[in-house]
This record gives sequence, structure tokens and C-alpha cells, in this order.
Amino acid sequence: MSADMAGDDRRDGRRETGAGAHPILEAKDLVVNFYTYEGVVKALNGVSLTIPHGITFGLVGESGCGKSVFVRSLMGLVQEPGRIDGGELIFYPGPPSGDGPVQGVDLLRQPESYLQRIRGDRISMIFQEPNAALNPIMTVGEQVAESFLFHRVREMSEKIAADLGAGGGRTTGPVKAVLRVLCGISARNPHARVLRVLNRVPVLKRWRRRLLREALSRSAELLGRLGISNPEEVIRRYPHNLSGGMKHRIVIAMALACKPVLLIADEATSNLDVTIQAQILDLLKGLKETEISSVLLITHDLGVVAETCDRVGVMYAGNVCEIANVGELFRNPRHPYTQALLNAVPKMAQTGPLESIEGTVPNLVDPPPGCRFHPRCPNAGEPCREVFPEMREMGVGHRVACYFPVEDIG
Ligand SMILES: Nc1ncnc2c1ncn2[C@@H]1O[C@H](COP(=O)(O)OP(=O)(O)O)[C@@H](O)[C@H]1O
Ligand code: SF4
Ligand SMILES: [Mg+2]
Repeated sequence: MSADMAGDDRRDGRRETGAGAHPILEAKDLVVNFYTYEGVVKALNGVSLTIPHGITFGLVGESGCGKSVFVRSLMGLVQEPGRIDGGELIFYPGPPSGDGPVQGVDLLRQPESYLQRIRGDRISMIFQEPNAALNPIMTVGEQVAESFLFHRVREMSEKIAADLGAGGGRTTGPVKAVLRVLCGISARNPHARVLRVLNRVPVLKRWRRRLLREALSRSAELLGRLGISNPEEVIRRYPHNLSGGMKHRIVIAMALACKPVLLIADEATSNLDVTIQAQILDLLKGLKETEISSVLLITHDLGVVAETCDRVGVMYAGNVCEIANVGELFRNPRHPYTQALLNAVPKMAQTGPLESIEGTVPNLVDPPPGCRFHPRCPNAGEPCREVFPEMREMGVGHRVACYFPVEDIG
């Protein structure tokens, strides 16, 4: 088990991310480059981190440091001119058994068909901009139902077959018999060619309608669980009839439809006003207990991290430079960049000017050699300019990539 999973931070009553935790994801030495006309953008420079099962893991860092590229690698969505040039992304899709190691799969070595099966099912993502994620000409219900219709046809077919067997509904005689055969086929193979070939046959349309009805009923039930009142009515609305906060909830519902084991929120609340942001973060926290196993929360906002996360990784210019449980990171930051980032956040008792971080974020086409933070670092010494610092354990579950870390305050 990777050492960065170890940790003990029970002071603030958060979930323990201790050494017994199973990983849900392990990134090992992930390298992603973009081959542009201006040169090669070295976006991820050997990112390694472990997300333990059952926690909210925050990934923070200034704009352009590689947070979204990391997420896109995970979802199999790095596109031209980008290329994953090295590393592993081991995902553990099953529930941890407790006895023996859980089987992991390297997402970077799976065919697209596998990634399609797990995207939106085992791993799903809340998109930042609901207006871009929602289709304006489909009802809310149809859009939430799409996940069920893509990933849960087998389960729904079995349920419809059971309902038909129990004599439910008005369907009788030969039609009922045909519907039961179709349910049997789709329960065995939801994407069977025969089901697609027979698409124009009226009885098949009837079967599809039943499937859609079941998916819509599941969608309404899910919206109800997300605290949306009158969900039966909301599923018939179009996105333009919804408030901003409501659209966000619908996008969350779409991501949660199949109860993913890993939910990724990439700056999902960044454009919201503070009240709605607080509501959505509260909703996510509540859902963590019931609907999802683990959350990967990407943000540049340390306040959101402090409020929501159990453990956090700090990124700088394509590297993870520090990982710790959240209380420990805020209390005892060891990497000079993390310390500078924390000093740049306004405090309640702030009287003087805010401290900004000297210098600018490096151009990733031609990043500084050695530690990429060295041109801005007050502690920089000889090795920093030449050799990249490896991550080292500097406390229980506290990992830092730095030659001259900030003093440990214990
Ligand atoms: N399609 C692309 N083409 C070229 N460079 C890209 C592309 N996508 C991302 N990058 C570069 O990768 C780096 C990391 O970007 P990103 O992961 O989006 O940062 P953020 O931390 O703000 O999410 C940036 O330097 C960005 O310019
Ligand atoms: S390795 Fe050197 S330059 Fe980099 S953060 Fe640590 S002290 Fe600063
Ligand atoms: Mg981003």
C-alpha cells in the first residue's frame, strides 16, 4: 500500500484516512504532454498520488497547474494534441472486500469499450458549467434517464420482466409473451444487435417505452433523494425552466444516477454565488454518506478544501508537491509553495496586506529544471535547480517533495 494513504487526523472529527484504508485510485508517475506548434507543453510531470476509498480527496493548485489534465487522463478524455506518455492509473472498481487485495485495473491500458462502460457508471463527473452539460431540447427526466438507459438496461429489463410475471399492467396475451422474451434478451445482452435491428417493429417500441418509463421513474426517485421537491413535475421541465442552483442539482443527479464509486467534481462550484455554493457543497457532503464512496474534488479554492475534504494534494506546475490530511496540511504545511498558498488566503483577523507569491507560474513548454518552484522559492538551494525532488514521508501520512521543507511545527 502506498505510503501516502497512511495518516491520522482525527482532531477535527473527519473520516480517518488511516493505513487500513483501501485505495480507490493510484496514479503512478503519470506523464502527459501536449504537442503544440509552440512546443511540447509538459502538463503532468510524473504525478503520483493515492486516493483512499471512502474519503473526499481535494486536489488544489493555481490555474494551469494540471488539475483538469489529471482528471481528463482518468476519464480517458485526453485528446490531440495531448498524449499520455507514461505512468499508470490503477482504479479499483469493486467494493473493497476487507480480506486480501482488491483487484485493480490500469485505466491507461484498457480499450475504449471498457472506459465507456465505467464512465458514468463506476466513475462519473460533475461538469463545471451546467448549461454546457445539459441539452436544451431534452427534458430533465430524459437527460437523467440516459445514464440508466446506457448502464442499467440489464437491471431494468429484469425488473420489467418480474413486473410482467407478477401480472402488473394492462399488457396481456402474446404481446406480454413477446415483451418477456425481449426483456430476457436485453437482460442477457443489453446492447444485443437483434434489439437494434428490430427497432422498427411496433412491439419493440412498446418495450422501449416501458424501459424509458422505468428509467424516468428512477430519475424522479433520484431527484427526490437529492432534495428536489416535486420531482415528478421537474423531470418534465426543460433546462431553461430551471434556476441556476437547480441546474447544478440536475447535473449532480446525472453524475450520481448509477451510484459511482468515484465522483469527480472539477471546479464544480467555482462559478456559483456563495449561498448556492454552500448548498451544493452540503449536498455533496450528505451524498458522500449515502450515494458515493469517494469524491475527487478539484478546486483552486482552499476554503472549499477546508470545508469539504478529508485529504488533500497540492499541485504546482504539473507536479504534486505535498499530500496530507486536511487538518495537518492547514496546520503544518511543509512545502514552501503550500505555505505561500496558505499565506495568500485572507484571514478573519487580517490587518496588513495579503502576501502574494513572488514571480509567475512557469511556462510549461520550457519549465525550470529541477524543482519547478525554485525560481519563486525562498528556501531554494543548490540541488533544487538541478534535480527534481522525490516525494518523501515527513510525518504520518504527510508526504512532501522538497529538499528544504518549511520547519515542522509537530
Ligand atoms: N489542449 C491543450 N493544448 C495545449 N495545452 C494544453 C491543453 N490542455 C491543457 N493544456 C495545458 O496543460 C496545462 C494544465 O492545464 P489544466 O489541467 O487545464 O490546468 P488547471 O489546473 O487549471 O485545470 C496548462 O499549461 C495548459 O495550458
Ligand atoms: S525543492 Fe527547493 S526549490 Fe523546491 S520547494 Fe523545496 S526548497 Fe524550494
Ligand atoms: Mg481546470
